[in-house]
Amino acid sequence: MPAFIETQFPIARLSAESYKERKAGASQTLTGLGKWWGRKPLILVRASILGMLMPASSDPKRDREIFLKILTMDDDGTVQRWKSNERYTLTELLELASLDERNRYHELLAERERLFNKLNEVTEELKRLPKSNIEAIATATAAMNDAVGQADRARKALLAYFNALQINVFNRLPYAERLRFCERPENSDGPTEQAWEEINAHLDTTASNLAELIEQLGQRSYGHTPRVGDCFCGGGSIPFEAARIGCEAFGSDLNPVAGLLTWASLNLLGGGKKVQDEVRGVQEEVFAAADKQITEWGIEHNEQGERAEAFLYCVEVKPEGCDYYIPLAPSWLVAEKYRIVATWKKLPDSVHLQPEVLAVSESELKLYKGNKDATVVDSRILDPFDATRSWSVEALRGPEGLRRWSNDDVVPRPGDVFLERLYCIRWAKTVMHNGKPKLVRRYAAPEAADLAREAKVLELLHERFADWQSEGFIPSKAIISGDNTEQPIRERGWTHWHHLFTPRQLLMHGVLMKLGGQISMSLNAKAYSLLTIGYITDNSSKLCGWNPHHSKGPGNTRNVFSNQALNTLFNYGTKSLQEISFRIISLSTNRQRFTGESNIIISDARDLHAKCDIWITDPPYADAINYHEIGDFFLAWYNKQLARAFPEWTPDARAELAVRGEGEDFRRSMVEIYKNLAQHMPDNGMQMVMFTHQNPAVWADLGMILWAAGLKATAAWTISTETEAAGIKKGSYVQGTVCLVLRKRLGDEPGFLDEVYPLVEDEVKSQIASMQALDEGGEPNFNDADYQLAAYAAALKVLTRYGNIDGRDVEYELFALRAANEKSDFQAVIERALRIACDYLVPQGLDRLWRDLSLVERYYMRSLDVESRGERRKGMYEELARGFGVTDIRPLLQSDKANGTRMVTPSDLGSTHLASLEGAAQNQTMQMPRRGRAASGAPHPFALSPLRHLLFAVRETTEADDNPEPGRQYLRDTFGQGYWNQRDRFIGLLEWFARLGNSSGMEEWHKDAQAARVLSGRLRNDEA
Ligand SMILES: C[S@@+](CC[C@H](N)C(=O)[O-])C[C@H]1O[C@@H](n2cnc3c(N)ncnc32)[C@H](O)[C@@H]1O
Repeated sequence: MPAFIETQFPIARLSAESYKERKAGASQTLTGLGKWWGRKPLILVRASILGMLMPASSDPKRDREIFLKILTMDDDGTVQRWKSNERYTLTELLELASLDERNRYHELLAERERLFNKLNEVTEELKRLPKSNIEAIATATAAMNDAVGQADRARKALLAYFNALQINVFNRLPYAERLRFCERPENSDGPTEQAWEEINAHLDTTASNLAELIEQLGQRSYGHTPRVGDCFCGGGSIPFEAARIGCEAFGSDLNPVAGLLTWASLNLLGGGKKVQDEVRGVQEEVFAAADKQITEWGIEHNEQGERAEAFLYCVEVKPEGCDYYIPLAPSWLVAEKYRIVATWKKLPDSVHLQPEVLAVSESELKLYKGNKDATVVDSRILDPFDATRSWSVEALRGPEGLRRWSNDDVVPRPGDVFLERLYCIRWAKTVMHNGKPKLVRRYAAPEAADLAREAKVLELLHERFADWQSEGFIPSKAIISGDNTEQPIRERGWTHWHHLFTPRQLLMHGVLMKLGGQISMSLNAKAYSLLTIGYITDNSSKLCGWNPHHSKGPGNTRNVFSNQALNTLFNYGTKSLQEISFRIISLSTNRQRFTGESNIIISDARDLHAKCDIWITDPPYADAINYHEIGDFFLAWYNKQLARAFPEWTPDARAELAVRGEGEDFRRSMVEIYKNLAQHMPDNGMQMVMFTHQNPAVWADLGMILWAAGLKATAAWTISTETEAAGIKKGSYVQGTVCLVLRKRLGDEPGFLDEVYPLVEDEVKSQIASMQALDEGGEPNFNDADYQLAAYAAALKVLTRYGNIDGRDVEYELFALRAANEKSDFQAVIERALRIACDYLVPQGLDRLWRDLSLVERYYMRSLDVESRGERRKGMYEELARGFGVTDIRPLLQSDKANGTRMVTPSDLGSTHLASLEGAAQNQTMQMPRRGRAASGAPHPFALSPLRHLLFAVRETTEADDNPEPGRQYLRDTFGQGYWNQRDRFIGLLEWFARLGNSSGMEEWHKDAQAARVLSGRLRNDEA
């Protein structure tokens, strides 16, 4: 029996939920634990596991309803998740209600008023009656009681209508918009009692919560609680969510930093309140002890009773021919909100400039926001006192590059090209103001006493440096040069990870590491201490730029990993301990205690021995994130302490084993890994491989890898995980995560090409038909890319059933040596399958005409159709081109922007790419299918196509201000007698173009669409 996910998946709703989760930023459940790159949305993981465990029945519609209920993603579920403070006010509600609804509301309101008035009257009358008139009083009292009942019923009716109207109006919103006002499913209480009744009735279960449902479904399929594993667990989304909903969770990763994050997600977040309170208590103790130490040293306090919140540093250089050091920064703005900037002046007896930190006027501030006095612009250093002088940063590094720092360098040496200096301190002090404590801030350039404190910091660090390195309180690891790690080495000469920190940061972080190790007794507390350091280092290093923006109040540091690189900076901020401790990591995003078993290990995915019923993986696939390099930023700090806390983990990123990139090595490791996973799951086990890539074409390669690993594809779905809600339908999203569902291929049944194609055709048709059926009515679930992908997956579904095709082994084919552009027969099969898929999706209104269009013409029409529905991603147009075998699409694209691709209109084309028709095509029907590739020097196949000539006729009509004569004449001249055979088809195509003008976002077509309408009318009335 197929699983739900093998028949359908609520793509549109899941995309909206995933997007909402992503947009939650810091309040996402796991991100607070620490930085990892490429985390998968938890809701997607939850839906995937449920989709694999829930069987599909013969009633797909009901399956869908039930599936959505379990996730609280049905209409009742969204109402349940609707935040109470986001309900409509009466005015808003009546504005959004229909006329009938408004009228009904006013009717009920009037009725309530009437009955309350009546009640008042009856009450007054009763009061007026003399007490002696017992009979009259009894009658009036009865009337009053009656009036009370009526008024109360009217009040309740009005209230009930108001509440029902709230829900009706809310449910009329598109799903993605409703979510703006809702809690995320993970933060809701789950399905209601009534929903559970429906769920249980459909699934024949007796669950009253998610964990019970998972248990019962798992028992049914596997005879035990389902075990879900991820061998590339990264930040832990998959094991965490699996455990949260009641599965047994297994996670492993090559990188111990990932291991720590995943372990912490399960054991700290999943440890419930008790564990969280314990580790938070330890953290507070550590900070208090560190605060005491820093205060004793006197390195953050000054003589005026102020405490520093932040220190701003910059690099300075003395280029050849310049007799002073130039402090470097692309902007000297310090705090926009308080109009604070730094300026520099020359001193008579010094080669170093003197900073001045001051508040400027509003107009001056504007200039600083426009980078006034910036000394680094476009990788050139500018002389602040002579605008005609500048030096290239690259040239300053010299032909030999910079001096490489040695381990014990913690500041530049005199004579180094780049020196470092402090230029601003943000001080704060609490004073009493009107009887209340008030924090007063001050920004100042460093004075002699401050510089003395800097010197003391250096001295304190030197005294401890060797000990602390050997204890592992500060990093001692060398930076291994790689794609990302080369940058700090080349740009600053930094060779060790601790070079990426100021002495102040090393001292402060070192104190916290030391105290964390001493005070944390339990494994939970030790792990949390390490994560705290990870969090702090991401927020306080020489790679943390200073953000003076208004929204940041007094200014704040940027994270090191606001992107996936190790970018060196010319100016940067350092937080004081005081500031850091305000922002320590929070664990409150999950209070639920996980009761199931979980296991996290550090291992190369090739070496795993753990068995899971379901593997969900998100491999490092062509995504250009060098986990093994950038993860070392954290590992350099954790290193020795991590080895003590988790002795069984290898505290090394083992870069040589990391799966990365593309090419043969990558494919080999992936086949090995997925073979291993297939061996470690039961015969009825399932897998999902998730991958996010802008170009859907890359997944053909992945399909081959998984096929060669002994797996067969059973479905594929794309969830847009990183998009604007409004963009989901309009296609303006950036990335989709493809979720490929797989099972073990049992047996090695041989396949034969001539059998495969008809099967592919049938599978494609049935897959698309079932999706179209789900799309009927209501909000569409699928967009063009989904259909395309599903068709492609359908092809893979057929192919991967077989162990070999025409006697050829898949693995052999995958690794056979080939010339750069040579395709394997298997790739050709996949592409042919894709073509079948593409061809099956005929744009609405073109069914009758489709068969007679050439491939390149079909490509143009299909692409236009896709464009008219808002799809703008270039990858989609390229994918279609692959499907239709069009190898050169440039002449057909008006724009080839990554997220702004458009097809040419008749007017854009003008008279370009127009070649005379070949003899045969002139008289009879249009050309037979031709590929869109021009032989060298030959015109593009589109230029020779009848469709191209028809577009030219449209353009002639547009040019002639909608006079159809020149266009008609052109067609008659071009096609000769053939014109009469083709006239009906021309009319059909023209009418289709005419309709294009009505689609939103197709403004470029307005004129040509109108011309097409006029021309079609003229052709219809044409006579020989
Ligand atoms: C795309 S990330 C996974 C992200 C994860 N799904 C999440 O939600 O955070 C891929 C992971 O594969 C890991 N990795 C790379 N090569 C590996 C190997 N040979 N064995 C195990 N893990 C590996 C990387 O360290 C990285 O954490």
